Amino acid sequence: MDVLGIETTCDETAAAVVRMRPEGGGDILSNEISSQVAEHAAYGGVVPEIAARAHLEVIDRLIARALDAAGTTLRRLDAIAAAAGPGLVGGVIVGLTTAKALALAARKPFIAVNHLEAHALTARLTDGVNFPYLLLLVSGGHTQLVAVNGVGDYSRLGTTLDDAVGEAFDKVAKMLGLPYPGGPHVEREALKGNPTRFDLPRPMLGRPAADFSLSGLKTAVRIEAERVAPLTATDVGDLCASFQAAIIDLIVDRARAGLRAFRERKGHPEAFVVAGGVASNAAIRRAIARFAGEAGLRLVIPPPNLCTDNGAMIAWTGIERLRLGLIDDMTFAARPRWPLDTNAEPVQHGKA
Ligand code: KG4
Ligand code: ZN
Repeated sequence: MDVLGIETTCDETAAAVVRMRPEGGGDILSNEISSQVAEHAAYGGVVPEIAARAHLEVIDRLIARALDAAGTTLRRLDAIAAAAGPGLVGGVIVGLTTAKALALAARKPFIAVNHLEAHALTARLTDGVNFPYLLLLVSGGHTQLVAVNGVGDYSRLGTTLDDAVGEAFDKVAKMLGLPYPGGPHVEREALKGNPTRFDLPRPMLGRPAADFSLSGLKTAVRIEAERVAPLTATDVGDLCASFQAAIIDLIVDRARAGLRAFRERKGHPEAFVVAGGVASNAAIRRAIARFAGEAGLRLVIPPPNLCTDNGAMIAWTGIERLRLGLIDDMTFAARPRWPLDTNAEPVQHGKA
């Protein structure tokens, strides 16, 4: 079974072909991506109008490249999947409409994929993980702890009440004069810094509910930065190291709370899966590995290019849904918001 997956919910245009393995898991036959990071860098964040136009400019060629690289054609595909949300609606419409048009023209099943579900299921593509498992998704747009019970079956155990973890990295980077996206720059500066120089708050630490709140930490960094300004290179390093140390404490503590909630509902998880751009931070990975070891969890972190936004995760989710007969019709509209767990309380100011 071969499925084409198309991703356009944020600032990456991506298309991939994935083949299902009979024994479980999948083979990525192609995985093309065109990043718009450079186009948004000057604005310090993703500009929705620029994103939508940039997707439109590259999507046709990108899909052609993905089919070529996979050595296949539209006619030989079993289905066409596209992320239908959550995300920036202008970009989502570009990918979704393209996928529908191709599916109509080639008379193939069309599958509307939840971008968050695609992140959640990637560990089954890469490592054949069985249900149920605990997922920590930490990216620029999302921060959630989720019990992944089955395809289409998720329980949100925790979410951020304000900023996503990656977003907090990006905002701290911006206030310290580091380039966008800030995560890798903060990580690099933190290597040179003293993580104990600034005593920063760890909001929600020790709370039983597995939620995050990052705006207080971000504000504390701003206050400290203003207090010691003008900032020397040492100050920047120490602020980054102190911020990252606080984030690490929070992630581990919130994961522990998520694991407790998971065990109450489902018993021991088959794995602890971590995904999202923030998972490429080496110090965070080390802390997570230590936590997983102590908790007796099988830790699965997909490779960085499959942790961040990509087409293969959309294609794989298409496969997972297609084999359950879950196909969609042409009336499926783009969804700027589309929670994984529809029973979870919406968060007033969050991103869930
Ligand atoms: O998953 P992703 O590529 O895109 C989405 O948000 O969907 O995640 C990007 C986010 C950005 O906020 C970026 O600053 C953060 O992940 N990030 C990092 C690191 N690399 C990327 N944060 C901390 N440390 C890193 N090394
Ligand atoms: Zn994403």
